[in-house]
Amino acid sequence: MNNTLRAAAFLDKGGTGKTTTVAHLGVALEELGYRVLLVDLAGKQGDLAKHFGVWRDYQQQINADEAWPNISTVFDDAWGTIADKLGTTAVEDLVIPTAEGPDLIPAHPGLDTLDAELGNIDDARERYSRFEQFLDEYVDPLEYEVVLVDLPGMTNNVSYNGLWATRHVITPVEMGPFEAEQADALRRDLAKIAENFAVGIDLALVLPNKVDTRTTLAEEYLEAFRTEYPEGIAPNYIPYSQDIRNAAQNGMTAFALEEPSTTAKRAREGYLDAAETLITRLGGDNHV
Ligand SMILES: Nc1ncnc2c1ncn2[C@@H]1O[C@H](COP(=O)(O)OP(=O)(O)OP(=O)(O)O)[C@@H](O)[C@H]1O
Ligand SMILES: [Mg+2]
Repeated sequence: MNNTLRAAAFLDKGGTGKTTTVAHLGVALEELGYRVLLVDLAGKQGDLAKHFGVWRDYQQQINADEAWPNISTVFDDAWGTIADKLGTTAVEDLVIPTAEGPDLIPAHPGLDTLDAELGNIDDARERYSRFEQFLDEYVDPLEYEVVLVDLPGMTNNVSYNGLWATRHVITPVEMGPFEAEQADALRRDLAKIAENFAVGIDLALVLPNKVDTRTTLAEEYLEAFRTEYPEGIAPNYIPYSQDIRNAAQNGMTAFALEEPSTTAKRAREGYLDAAETLITRLGGDNHV
């Protein structure tokens, strides 16, 4: 029986914290005792791998033409044949470990042309379900308990594949009137997808991010989001923390900081709470 829980970080907008959220929730879930795989479909810049300090090594492999197969290969027509030929190592070769717990399938420059390539597949079902086929057949047997996917900050064939495969969305939102509109647009997007493809995709976790609690406006927006998304909203928000930014630049999450600031500590707690809530929303058994 397959018990792998899946979710994807998505919002048709850049910079709200999708990659940061995937990285931190991944580590938080590991801290709670889950085996986690993170997959980067967000683009060739390799942000998720950078977040764990493993991009430089992988980039050397890419430059030396040794990063094959890679995350873009699994969308290929010929992936089944390739995987058969490579045998059991095919998927294991894609996965790299990180020092903070989660395993990772990093991005690859091949993701650049993937949207257009998928666009050439006539059959819509086939076009959007390549990634699901890959997760079902090749990743589920690895027995991860949770798979989190980082998606591009735009609606395209790649993000559709991620949504189709996971059916559950994690959305980091910033506090502001424009951001509230974005969250609404997302809800409409998901409804449209559900209608077009007769699949349900739910907003599993809305996570207020970069919250500046010194302003009363932040409180107002938080309250509005709680009212608007009573089911999806996270139990806690993630404060704005310069530590998160600095840690990312040093290839780590806030969980790896030896002397975390107050905001970094609050962020960690927020992610741990959100991780537990996420498991429940995905229908998993809580370990604790
Ligand atoms: N809670 C936070 N406090 C401070 N900085 C944050 C926080 N969350 C994210 N950031 C910073 O905001 C920037 C954008 O975050 P991130 O890269 O995770 O967003 P994204 O949605 O993945 O962006 P993109 O759409 O470009 O992939 C990064 O510099 C990140 O370090
Ligand atoms: Mg990102």
